[in-house]
Amino acid sequence: MAIAKKIQQFMEKASWIRKMFEEGAALKKEYGERNVFDFSLGNPNLEPPDKFNDVFMRIAGEKIPGKHGYMSNAGYAETRDAIAEYLSEEHGKEIFGRHIIMTCGAGGALNVVLKTLLDQSDEVVIPLPYFVEYNFYVDNHNGTSRLVKTRDDFSLDLDEIESALSPQTKAVLINSPNNPTGRVYDEKSISGLAQILDKKSREFGKEIYLVSDEPYNKIVYDGVKVPSILSAYKNSILVTSYSKDLSIPGERLGFIAVNPEAAPLDQLLNGLIFCNRTLGFVNAPAFIQRVVQHLQGISVDIKIYQRKRDLLCTALREMGYSFIRPEGAFYLFPRTPLNDIEFVRELQQERILTVPGSGFGCPGFMRIAYCVEDWVIEGALPGFRKLADKYIA
Ligand SMILES: Cc1ncc(COP(=O)(O)O)c(C=O)c1O
Repeated sequence: MAIAKKIQQFMEKASWIRKMFEEGAALKKEYGERNVFDFSLGNPNLEPPDKFNDVFMRIAGEKIPGKHGYMSNAGYAETRDAIAEYLSEEHGKEIFGRHIIMTCGAGGALNVVLKTLLDQSDEVVIPLPYFVEYNFYVDNHNGTSRLVKTRDDFSLDLDEIESALSPQTKAVLINSPNNPTGRVYDEKSISGLAQILDKKSREFGKEIYLVSDEPYNKIVYDGVKVPSILSAYKNSILVTSYSKDLSIPGERLGFIAVNPEAAPLDQLLNGLIFCNRTLGFVNAPAFIQRVVQHLQGISVDIKIYQRKRDLLCTALREMGYSFIRPEGAFYLFPRTPLNDIEFVRELQQERILTVPGSGFGCPGFMRIAYCVEDWVIEGALPGFRKLADKYIA
């Protein structure tokens, strides 16, 4: 076969999420759209906020010279300034436009960060369960993923992280609110992690970066707030996007925010801008940068996701499923009463599509993406109940 062996192997093992999505598409063809309950993909079902459409239409009508041209590889200065102003307020520290690099979503941002940081065989410590694309992203840039367990409630296990750190560690990559668990790592665990990273950086005589992937940081419930990594740790890099909070994943816009105290700051910023260019992104999409400049702090109505979470949690709890109530994002990660792949296959017989925990490095669980219409949740409940009656008694 002509393609690289490694890619062949990756594709065989890869993405349960995509696999279930494809199988769902086949089921929908057979049974009709309304008879399949698809919780496989984290594709936000809400439309972007009205303000997004208003600004989009206004800017579409404006005559701006060079509107569709190349720009600085870091993105438009006006957009970066607007983001920096918003972040300064949110994180309670001075951040300027030069600390922001516009990217092609959070996925693009992570690739830029890892390309910039990693030498051959450098390690990236990642808590489990995790967004499985991280493995491929780390491999893209010749690094090695070092997966570490979290506690039973999916909070960070700082002892596990500490013992995984070594002179090979270049970064710790966390994701909060978490996909697939919905866990938000609290202030105490973030400051504890920062202390460990400080201590180990000194011990190994090198910077260990804390990269926090936060595309869901506005999607939080019950008054929970995502702690600021930029305030907690000097060598921190925040990665995020507008995919989930503005419901525009197809537009591919995100950004990297580098802690102004990170070292060596200029080298880091220049490296990130260089990699944004040389990975072939060149710059993040122009038009949407102009739009989000005017949408700082805006998001879809989070209460709608909260209501969906409550609907699903109440029903599944009553059936006997066991899970940690999500604090953010739009995923529920219950235990499966039997092997996760078998259980997910059984659910598929009920025309319910979920993703096995194995797809996130965590067998024995399943991910239910509840960013779906209410009828999908309501329609799936009899199937969930049937299997609960059969296996959880
Ligand atoms: C944890 C996490 N990180 C990154 C991404 C990629 O986001 P984007 O669409 O902004 O590239 C996703 C998308 O689902 C995600 O769940």
